[in-house]
Amino acid sequence: MDSLTAPTRRSFLKTTALAATGLGLLYSDLLRVPAVAAEGKEVAGVKLDDLPLLGPYLLPTETPFESIRVAFRGTEEKTRGAAGVLSYGLKTAGEKEVAFNATDKHVLELKDLAADAEYQYVLQLGDYKSPVYRFRTSPKPGARAQKTKLGLFFDFHCHAPKEVEQNEKGAENFFKHYGYAMADIKKFAPDMLILGGDIVDEGIRREEYDTFFRIMRDVCANAIAVPIPGNHEWGTDKDLSIYADYWPMPQNGPEGDKNNTWSFAYGGIGWQMRKNGSGDWLKANIRDLKEKRGADTIVDVQHYQVYQWAEKSTDLGKKGVCDVFDAEGGVRLCLFGHRHIHQRSLPLLYEGNGKATTKEKSEYAPDTKGTIYMQSPSMWYQYTQPLENPLVACNGKPSFAGSYTGYGEMTITPEALVSETYVYDGSGKSRHDRIDQFKLLRSKG
Ligand SMILES: [Fe+2]
Repeated sequence: MDSLTAPTRRSFLKTTALAATGLGLLYSDLLRVPAVAAEGKEVAGVKLDDLPLLGPYLLPTETPFESIRVAFRGTEEKTRGAAGVLSYGLKTAGEKEVAFNATDKHVLELKDLAADAEYQYVLQLGDYKSPVYRFRTSPKPGARAQKTKLGLFFDFHCHAPKEVEQNEKGAENFFKHYGYAMADIKKFAPDMLILGGDIVDEGIRREEYDTFFRIMRDVCANAIAVPIPGNHEWGTDKDLSIYADYWPMPQNGPEGDKNNTWSFAYGGIGWQMRKNGSGDWLKANIRDLKEKRGADTIVDVQHYQVYQWAEKSTDLGKKGVCDVFDAEGGVRLCLFGHRHIHQRSLPLLYEGNGKATTKEKSEYAPDTKGTIYMQSPSMWYQYTQPLENPLVACNGKPSFAGSYTGYGEMTITPEALVSETYVYDGSGKSRHDRIDQFKLLRSKG
């Protein structure tokens, strides 16, 4: 969507600047430099690049200890019609390469990779050459990763510049609020990106996906995407075909939901990502992650809240999910969003209504029974106020008045999963202190 307007604007700015300095002839070559510099429009403090492609971005496989997928697509005639090369390696990006022909979108699978290793890679698509990016493979099943950093983003609600121009409600606020957190997200530099649904505001608007990949370009180029859809995707993109076009995942979900429900294990953590996925699939998947794919800890992720105590509380879906978690064990953490608040329960067993197995609020031994249910804040805005409840481990937080936005940072080591939630003042630029932190200790490996 920017391809028509942004280059014109860039040329205009450069021509104007050059005319002002009287050095037009001397620097005229600059105007013919291919678009490798990220110059684009600025929307409410967020700069959108105008590069001629989306990506590269990283996608998981079922065997992340030996393979990974790299996705990208041209957004201009010259990149849509271009062939190219993806080069990668352990010491430098130039050790191996995969050549590809021109097509509308690319998902390249790199195979026979070394386990538990950091790779560098560079994409060349037509005359565009990317910076050097990196990814990390998982250790082999049964082994644990030394350190994996994960960004937790729920209810991102990416909007597009066109919606700001048309004064659509909330569109400008999206850019403003994302702008507050942008530098922190890039500084944290996650290895994996948990995208918990409502990634875009309307699932049929491809320009919102386009914006997402532009403002999150560097993050997505260096972090494996681990997404699920939310109601803002499936509400308008009924069969989730547009969603799955951007986020093709391993096809190991239940029949009929394979483009939105899936799982994989990375460094001993099993990620169960689902829109639906209940009953027999859920049971079998938990067992499979533990018994065949080497997961000592399972994290379940879905969009709708499972347990929640808030003014718009509905406790959706707890029955039939929690009892499976209880029966199968091993599901230590269930993440969700949708209501745009932060809230974390004590470890719970379902038992009809939820019963805490401990009052401990910050550190949980590996033999702690029950599942912690955590709802993450939205990157866009908050509209639900949490309520005090004895089953909530973070009562009273955040303690400041007013609404907030935010996201989570998780760091996984062989010993523990450490989860931290950060929020931003809804109307200011201050990053508040971490509002919640807890540690899940892993079994002795
Ligand atoms: Fe939602």
